Amino acid sequence: MKNGARETLADVILPRIAVPPHPFKPELPAADKVALKERIAAMLRQQNAVLVAHYYTDGDLQDLAEATGGCVADSLEMARFAAAHPAQTLVVAGVRFMGETSKILNNEKRVLMPAPEATCSLDEGCPIDLFTDFCDRHSDHTVVVYANTSAEVKARSHWVVTSGIALSVVKHLAEKGEKILWGPDRHLGRYVQRLTGVEMILWPGSCVVHEEFKAEALTRLHALHPQAAVLVHPESPEEVVALADVVGSTTALIQAVRDLPNREFIVATDAGIFNKMRQLAPDKILLGAPTAGEGATCESCARCPWMEMNTLQQLARVLETGEGEIQVAPELAARARIPIQRMLDFAATLKKE
Ligand code: 13P
Ligand code: SF4
Repeated sequence: MKNGARETLADVILPRIAVPPHPFKPELPAADKVALKERIAAMLRQQNAVLVAHYYTDGDLQDLAEATGGCVADSLEMARFAAAHPAQTLVVAGVRFMGETSKILNNEKRVLMPAPEATCSLDEGCPIDLFTDFCDRHSDHTVVVYANTSAEVKARSHWVVTSGIALSVVKHLAEKGEKILWGPDRHLGRYVQRLTGVEMILWPGSCVVHEEFKAEALTRLHALHPQAAVLVHPESPEEVVALADVVGSTTALIQAVRDLPNREFIVATDAGIFNKMRQLAPDKILLGAPTAGEGATCESCARCPWMEMNTLQQLARVLETGEGEIQVAPELAARARIPIQRMLDFAATLKKE
């Protein structure tokens, strides 16, 4: 597809994305919070349920997931954990595609989400009708989609990937001489393309959170903290990625804070990740990378408005009422499971290496 035509597709999809305002979250008094967490832990036990949370969710939810035998992870590890865990109910704190992926991999289990309405700008910006049309026009390409997509889009793809495994999968496909159609995150796609040199056609989606990191302001901040390592999630714009010492998935960025000798870090990803970074490296200094928020209107301010919809109160409510259950039609789940399972099987071969 020519560049001009790609612009047209972007013009069609971008107005479809309605970014919600940041939810108002009054801080609970400490004693109430402890009591609420205890009540949730008891309900998880009674219902044979396990809590799986993403690194971008509220720190209290992350801590509770770990304290109750669940996990806090990136989207790849969340899928792996959900696929392997014996609990009858999976409670997924994150955004909708994460709950859907758990349901697709465990169709016989109950999957609850504290915020089932929490979507993602990448998912919203990749509607199945337009994406199908895009794929049909490039039918000689292998379709690789980011996990941040609907079950329908996954079902139309050959491979699902997360940021933690995208590079390895694309290298593997390139070795087999395959041409790749990539969706929906154009920044991650361009990054993978640059590192692998593979021919890739990119869907023009983006993440509203990472899209806002600004290269010029980051350069100025780095000049004030020259010893700081710059950590960037690859959903960020190319010029921001170009300034990074480490580019990687949420897990890779957390490991960098833990393992690098630097005392200071400038972090270009959702600020929810600081919870785990502080836990693993309490002596290190973490600085948020500048966003459009400095002197401009900011849609995200480095906080995903959909991830923020996950609260302790909502979690308690879905466990009490059974609301927030994720459903994926079995026939659709069976088709979407194929490319997800392909990713998990491939990930298992990498782990053994
Ligand atoms: P990870 O796969 O790195 O956890 O990222 C998921 C995501 O939504 C990033 O914005
Ligand atoms: Fe989607 Fe971006 Fe939010 Fe991740 S941070 S869930 S990619 S909108």
